[in-house]
Amino acid sequence: EWWADERKNQTPESKAIEEAANLLRTDDTPVAFPTETVYGLGADATRSGAVQGIYRAKQRPSDNPLIVHVDSLDMLDRLLNPSQGSPSSTKTPRNSLPPIYAPLIERFWPGPLTIILPNPSGSDLAPEVTSNLTTFGARMPSSPLARLLIHATDRPLAAPSANASTKPSPTTAQHVHHDLKGRIDLILDGGPSGVGVESTVVDGLCDPPAVLRPGGIGIEELREVPGWENVTVGYRDGTLDVKEIPRAPGMKYRHYSPKARVVLFKAGSDLACVTRHVQHDLKDTAIGAHNIGIVRTREWTQGLGLAPDDVMASTITPISAAINDLVSFPIPVQPTGSSNSKTKVAYDYHLGSDTGSIAHGLFAALRALDELDVDVIYVEGISDSDGDLAAAVMNRLRKAAGTEMKV
Ligand code: TXA
Ligand code: MG
Repeated sequence: EWWADERKNQTPESKAIEEAANLLRTDDTPVAFPTETVYGLGADATRSGAVQGIYRAKQRPSDNPLIVHVDSLDMLDRLLNPSQGSPSSTKTPRNSLPPIYAPLIERFWPGPLTIILPNPSGSDLAPEVTSNLTTFGARMPSSPLARLLIHATDRPLAAPSANASTKPSPTTAQHVHHDLKGRIDLILDGGPSGVGVESTVVDGLCDPPAVLRPGGIGIEELREVPGWENVTVGYRDGTLDVKEIPRAPGMKYRHYSPKARVVLFKAGSDLACVTRHVQHDLKDTAIGAHNIGIVRTREWTQGLGLAPDDVMASTITPISAAINDLVSFPIPVQPTGSSNSKTKVAYDYHLGSDTGSIAHGLFAALRALDELDVDVIYVEGISDSDGDLAAAVMNRLRKAAGTEMKV
């Protein structure tokens, strides 16, 4: 079977890694693999045909560059110093990593941090990786499976998140399978991704340095690093007054979005008002809220208090937050005797109140609700000032949401 490893909790076998590495070296079809942030869709970054395969499989716009994943500083050094021409022409000095990155790498690599580097002339990278920018993004993942795969392939791997373009990023092999089955030949299953949101992208080539995409490493953590005390916010977010065009090209696209309409409530929204709002939507046929999803976080611990009348069949089904075990994610069943199409169902999902578990379960929850074919998903936001991971979560939610409101 092409499906590499369906069983859970199995340590990845070297055979599977070898098979994946062989495909990566020879094929133009990308291979999905786990990282600590989200699953990546990898291809040999030095072969155009292979990199084109990524854009094809994801249906990703070609002006959105890819992150290059390395297993070692050695591999990165080789990328900065492509072996062009004769090795005897030793006139040109070696390109080294810009010094501003040294303390950052020391502290956060391997890990969820992507740095922007100048792409050297004569670069080994396929032009499709950088979408013709003069820079490239590089990251050394902390996932041992990811690094073993890069090592076995002996090539830098270009890899975006392994979702279909515009869909929420995948945090399990099952998510990848859902989006890309039939389009790729192999998924390495390493279990659920630990962090759950993508890497932080930073640009240290400008002064002051900037965060181009918030992610697994927070801005406050970055500011503790020498040279990064004044790092600025270079991405656009509803809460931030940043007028410039997003500099990470990927940030301008609709992203992280389930099929359903997402209504995001600001942290501190009054629960009774939220309930009234949802009841109104359920009654208003123009809004078309039939089956709905509710994603609760910190404050709405009691649930929304929808009445049987609101959802017509008393099917407010709590889904336990078994986010660590998505394979056995319980699909609520409709109560017997109410199989008629008028039945409205509210699926209620509590991510927990801890920021780590919210980040970890967010994409999985949106996907699970999509699978349940809900029309609208109501999400309880958290405060941006609750730390960097919280800000990253809200950044993703604002991109997914059509509406953000405070009631
Ligand atoms: O955690 C992650 O970063 C995951 C895993 C698989 O490593 N990858 C990921 O890749 O999220 P992707 O392609 O979904 O997002 C890459 C982001 C995009 O916003 C892209 O615009 C930005 O990085 N990026 C890549 N190269 C860039 C460059 N040279 N300059 C500015 N932004 C760049
Ligand atoms: Mg992505």
